[in-house]
Amino acid sequence: MSDLLKTETIKNTEVFVREKLEGEGSGHDWWHIHRVRNMALSIAKQEKADLFVVELAALLHDIADHKFHNGDETIGPKVAGEWLTSENVESNIIIHIQEIIKDLSFKGANVATPMKTIEGKIVQDADRLDAIGAIGVARAFAYGGHKNRELHNPEIEPTPHDTFETYKKNTGPTVNHFYEKLFLLKDRMNTKAGRRIAEARHEYMKDFLERFYAEWDGTV
Ligand code: ADP
Ligand code: NI
Repeated sequence: MSDLLKTETIKNTEVFVREKLEGEGSGHDWWHIHRVRNMALSIAKQEKADLFVVELAALLHDIADHKFHNGDETIGPKVAGEWLTSENVESNIIIHIQEIIKDLSFKGANVATPMKTIEGKIVQDADRLDAIGAIGVARAFAYGGHKNRELHNPEIEPTPHDTFETYKKNTGPTVNHFYEKLFLLKDRMNTKAGRRIAEARHEYMKDFLERFYAEWDGTV
């Protein structure tokens, strides 16, 4: 594919994704995609990676998320594949992007989620960075509200999930999600740049919860 056609495909994909996710209320809206795309491209500059694959995978990674399709993990890669085929993208690139989308998601505290290629590692880091820090806190509670979850319930303990199936079925309060996923992400970063940013965002989230518990107890 020529550079001109690649630029055209990226532009068309941006319009396609934006139309589909604009105004979404659970933290998986267009601006999540926008941030992940920018972060992925910024990390990619420090690695040796195919920027076309990184950018397309970042743009399409939440196009049809299992969380909003009854746990169906095949729908994201399927929708992305159909779109990229309609854009005449080479089949080996389509397969690579579909594989990234399939492997990307967090699947439970005790479930490994290795990425096969550097492009996948970069997009996974960028997506996970958007799940932590101040934006991560905002997104977690937005998602919790969207799914009718309590903010916090001291009577319900967090669960370290052993399988993707039990992780997907979880309906616990949002504060538990910090222990079940968000605090674990820092140590699961793939790239050096990702790890460095994750450290700072992780510290911020710890401070947030400390303050949250203090207010919960009425000590501040
Ligand atoms: P992943 O595919 O790894 O789940 P996404 O980009 O789809 O990543 O978005 C994950 C974000 O959705 C989480 O970081 C969090 O903000 C929100 N989320 C998912 N599950 C929960 C949950 N049980 N409670 C609160 N937020 C959640
Ligand atoms: Ni995402």
